[in-house]
Amino acid sequence: SRSIDLAVIPGDGIGQEVVTQGLKVLNAVLPQDVKLETREYDLGAQRWHRTGETLPDAELEALKGHDAILLGAIGDPSVPSGVLERGLLLKLRFAFDHYVNLRPSKLFPNTATPLAGRPDIDFVVVREGTEGPYTGNGGSLRTGTEHEVATEVSVNTAFGVERVVRDAFARAAARPRKKLTLVHKNNVLVHAGHLWKNIFDKVAAENPEVTTDYLHVDAATIFFVTQPERFDVIVTDNLFGDILTDLAAAVTGGIGLAASGNINPTGAFPSMFEPVHGTAPDIAGQGKADPTATILSVALLLRHLGYEPEALRIEEAVSVDLAEREGKAARTTDEIGDALAVRVAS
Ligand code: IPM
Ligand code: MN
Repeated sequence: SRSIDLAVIPGDGIGQEVVTQGLKVLNAVLPQDVKLETREYDLGAQRWHRTGETLPDAELEALKGHDAILLGAIGDPSVPSGVLERGLLLKLRFAFDHYVNLRPSKLFPNTATPLAGRPDIDFVVVREGTEGPYTGNGGSLRTGTEHEVATEVSVNTAFGVERVVRDAFARAAARPRKKLTLVHKNNVLVHAGHLWKNIFDKVAAENPEVTTDYLHVDAATIFFVTQPERFDVIVTDNLFGDILTDLAAAVTGGIGLAASGNINPTGAFPSMFEPVHGTAPDIAGQGKADPTATILSVALLLRHLGYEPEALRIEEAVSVDLAEREGKAARTTDEIGDALAVRVAS
């Protein structure tokens, strides 16, 4: 019989609230014969305040044994910037070699977006997840003086770029439009930019069924707003992908709906699914957070583990739920979770 052994990291701020709803919907959508086991990990700001730890080796080791990880959100204003981001979230992405950071964007009905009423927007950003300026390669000289020099080196390897580009081509080939856009800035970042472009062109030649396109990242931000329907699959570096996917969320219904998967396609390590949004400390604990992004991340998790019908049921439920909310009063975090759990459990 089938089973899912899931690690859960609620994290900080609204993380706990949204994860509770994600698990509620997961329980509701899974068929009777699938045994779901969860183990919660106490990681994040509170743990750091208590013990000074971000992600001890023993827990990193234990996390390895799960089929997948569901994460809420990490970070708190009471912790110095970078401590939890580097010591926990990015540590997980790097340790588990999550080289595909998958971030789909869809224009759902009735969403507060400047693009409401536009033709269908349905694209997915494949953000590289283990390299670029995120490697922590850099430093500061003469720190604190007028002559301080700070560098943040973007690391791009042929191996790292080729594997994510190949993954993006495969995703594009599997979609009806079969279109892939490379986003970079090779007119300025000539070294990394040319590595990306050369590998992209090489893999393109092997995939003639996929239509390809290149955009500089600044131009891409214009098209995200003026012509988002031109995109199908986008592949880009870690930092460009970070920025573009917040913009994508903003124009397609808000950060409350944006889901993501940190995927290791080889299966060597568990993949990790999380909403794109942060911990929103200003609304934490008030039942105001929209759990939809986490619930859609659960759909990505299910798809990754081979539960395609269940993933689709969640996505359709969200679509209908949003379509029907027009004119209704704002709902609490719990009410949205309940509504979606009822819809998927048929
Ligand atoms: C995201 C976040 C993270 C990132 C931060 C919190 C390290 O912004 O998941 O997009 O930059 O990747
Ligand atoms: Mn981000």
